[in-house]
Amino acid sequence: MTIAIIGAGNVGGALGTNWASKGHDVVFGVRDPKAEKTQALVSKIGGKAKAVTAAEAAAAGNFIVLSTPWPATEAAIRSMGNLKGKIVLDATNPLTRGPDGIGLEIGHAISGGEKVQGWAAGASVFKTLNTTGFGNMANPVFKGVKSVMFVAGDDAAAKPKVISLVGDLGFEVIDAGPLRNARLLEAHGMLWIDLALVRGQGRDFAFGILRR
Ligand SMILES: NC(=O)c1ccc[n+]([C@@H]2O[C@H](COP(=O)([O-])OP(=O)(O)OC[C@H]3O[C@@H](n4cnc5c(N)ncnc54)[C@H](OP(=O)(O)O)[C@@H]3O)[C@@H](O)[C@H]2O)c1
Repeated sequence: MTIAIIGAGNVGGALGTNWASKGHDVVFGVRDPKAEKTQALVSKIGGKAKAVTAAEAAAAGNFIVLSTPWPATEAAIRSMGNLKGKIVLDATNPLTRGPDGIGLEIGHAISGGEKVQGWAAGASVFKTLNTTGFGNMANPVFKGVKSVMFVAGDDAAAKPKVISLVGDLGFEVIDAGPLRNARLLEAHGMLWIDLALVRGQGRDFAFGILRR
């Protein structure tokens, strides 16, 4: 599979490195493909990765993963042109900085995932990979136990493919229902951020699912 990853920062780099190690081809879509930091990432990953513009990456990818800062996400999507029929994994969180620190810009009446669906007309958008830190995206397994990752989206035919792709990273993947449940997943992502950055848990923890 060829995975287009839009943004090659903390999240894009971790996901691209992990997926390439599982045999996928990774195409980073960035504003400046020749930038030193992007080229360093591509060389580190080796033959399974390259960097091009976001539009070129989107055209090449079976899947498109969004790992851009929230304020840049609409422009990044629009720069890719027509996304009709594409499968989009939205890893962004609609973060803003207010008087109480980092929080969600939206969430009760609409989510970032649903806004992404509005910008990416004709694509099948899934909210996923937003509820844990980038270090856990590089390695989701804790002492032999898989941490959990949720997938929310409306396209029932495409969902098993997304679940399989996210599972390739090493997560236990749970179908979290329709895309409107991105409202729940973005709040869950915010909980991880708050625990990690404000409540002293640090970045080396993740959520899991326990069963009897
Ligand atoms: N960090 C985490 O642990 C974490 C966890 C879960 C979800 N998230 C979410 O994931 C997203 C990315 O976070 P991050 O920490 O990876 O951010 P980051 O390290 O700042 O990386 C963002 C990347 O997006 C690129 N970018 C910016 N505007 C773009 C555009 N118009 N077109 C294409 N690429 C563009 C940046 O490239 P330039 O070098 O050109 O600016 C950079 O490569 C955010 O929405 C965040 O909320 C983050």
